[in-house]
Parts: sequence; structure tokens; C-alpha cells
Amino acid sequence: MTTRTRKRMFGTALLAGALLGALALPAAAQPAPAAKHPAQVLPFPTSPDAALAAAYEKYKGLKEGANADYIPALAKVDPNIFGIVLITVDGKVYTVGDVTSEVSIQSISKVFTMARVIQDQGELSIEDNMGVDATGQAFNSIVAIEQYKGKEMNPLVNPGAITATSMVTGANREEIWGKILGTYSDFAGRKLGVLQDVYKSEAETNQRNQAIAMLMYAYGHIKENPLQACDIYTEQCSVGVNARDLATMAATLANGGKNPVTGKVVIDAAHIPGVLAVMATAGLYDDSGKWLYHAGLPAKSGVGGGIIAVSPGKFGIAAISPPLDAAGNSVKAQKAIRDVSNALGGNPYAVTPK
Ligand code: DON
Repeated sequence: MTTRTRKRMFGTALLAGALLGALALPAAAQPAPAAKHPAQVLPFPTSPDAALAAAYEKYKGLKEGANADYIPALAKVDPNIFGIVLITVDGKVYTVGDVTSEVSIQSISKVFTMARVIQDQGELSIEDNMGVDATGQAFNSIVAIEQYKGKEMNPLVNPGAITATSMVTGANREEIWGKILGTYSDFAGRKLGVLQDVYKSEAETNQRNQAIAMLMYAYGHIKENPLQACDIYTEQCSVGVNARDLATMAATLANGGKNPVTGKVVIDAAHIPGVLAVMATAGLYDDSGKWLYHAGLPAKSGVGGGIIAVSPGKFGIAAISPPLDAAGNSVKAQKAIRDVSNALGGNPYAVTPK
């Protein structure tokens, strides 16, 4: 029996049961009439649980890549952490593997600071200040700044990201930080915190990012306090997240800015296409094209080992596995997300002819 036949039989049995039940009940206990618009049904070609389990089994033993070590604390993270979570736009949560261990969010944070700035100041604020184009360079490239004097880049590479952080407004550092952490927490659906060992470790070794911040200040993209912007950026990269947090953040983007688990509107739906477009263009750095070619999903990676991806209107998905490839993207997380999404028809470019 096919899954579809089984589902149809199950549906018929439910309907018959409901009719019999309704006949037997006194008027006061009659069930409420069916909703005018029943909950959205997501037509996955296979079950998300099966797709997650298959990807987990296939990749759990893979030994490619290595933890980032240019931030000393990251080299000490357990390389065997591996978890995948998918959350649909109607709030269903599917998990496999380790979904409780926290890693630092790292560059994935850049998406949510960009979203905060776009929400508060509009799309043009980002486009005009640092651009929305791929650099084709490494995420911390100084050559990329020099090429167009800090323009023609995007908020997902370090120069653009530190500049975006500098654009978050507040009376003082505490207020700016509160806004950033509050935004991330709303996306994740729980109060997030900082992994202090990671923050300390990166703050001691982030001289290159300080230089990047000074250069963006010199070119007029950061208006004031470049070293404070760099420090807040370093702290935002050290926020601790597990795979479920990341998937909830991705699912909020998939659901037009409304967290499908908590129901809170975090960012207006009108701003989501811009955020997803930058993720599609530059989310996996100089491997963004390769990623889009195979998965078709706007996504973002971080050197902590996490990756989020968004199937607009369908689901958000995240995986964590610390060992990275040469571009700085988690090896297992890329493979697992790509497989799960392709099994579930998540690629928005893949269309069945009518
Ligand atoms: O600024 C850095 O180097 C890190 N805090 C973040 C880099 C990162 O996650 C790049 N990701 N692939």
C-alpha cells in the first residue's frame, strides 16, 4: 500500500468516526464546526522524519573537514556534534541527532542583524551603504573592501556585517546589544545567551576584524565608534545556539517573518525577499553559487559549524556539525540539508510541469 493510499484510508476512517461521533453526541457536546480555512497542508513527497533519518545515517560517520581554529575556542568544540532540525511554516518540528548541544552562531548572526537594520531603516539603507553583491572573495577579505572602497559587497561578509552592526541604533552599547540579542531571541523563540569562552577567545584574536572595521570607517561606511561595532559584532558571533534554535530562526524567515512556533511577528513580510536574496547571493561565501546550484535554497553558514537554509513558504532547516571545508562551511551540514530539502521538494527552482 502506498503512503498516499494509507493516508487516504486514514482520512476516510477519521471522517466516518467523526460523523458517527457527532450523531451520538447531545447537542451541547457537538464538536465545533470545521474551520473555514483548514490548516495548511504541506505536500511533501516523503515524510520529513524519513528524510532526516536517511541524511543522518548517511553522513554521521563522515570524517571530512576540520574545526575552525583561527578562533582558538572553536578548535576545542566536539567535532562529533551532529544534529538536523526541520520546522515547517505551520510549526511542526522534526529532529534527528544532537539538537541540544550549543555552538556559537558565528556568521549566521549576520542574517539577523541585517534583518534588524532593514526592518528599522529599510532595504536601501543596506544596499546604499555596503551593497548586496557577492564579492567572490573570502569572508574576511580586505582586498574586497579595497576593490570598490567598501561598496559593492554585502552584509554577510565581515566588512558589510560589522558595518550593519554599526547601523543598529541605541543610546549606548547596552541598548544596541539588547536590540541585537532581543532580535535573535525572537527569531529563535527563546532567550539566547553568549558563550563567554568563545567571545573572550575571539575578542583576543580579532585584530583582522578590527582592521576591517577601521577601513570601513575610513571609507565612511561606519559613521562612528568602529571598534565598538567590531566588539559588538564579535559578541553577536558568540551567541550560543542549538540546531533547534537555528531551525526556528530559519523557519521564521520561511514563514514571512512570523515565528511559526511562538506566533510572534519578528520582521515584516515585505522585508523577507531582500533578506533571502542576500542569503542566496552570498550565504555560503565564495561557494554560494555552488550551493545554490545543488540546493536552490537561500542559506547561511557559520564557522561554529551551523548552517541554516530556507524553503520559502515551506520550511526552515538547520544542521550543526563543526568540521568545515576550505570555504568555511560545515561539510556534513551542507550535505545533510541539501539531501533533506531535495527529498522534500524544497528547492523553489524545481517545478513539476503542468
Ligand atoms: O568574524 C569572524 O571571523 C567570525 N566571527 C565569523 C566568521 C564566520 O562564521 C564565517 N563563516 N563561514
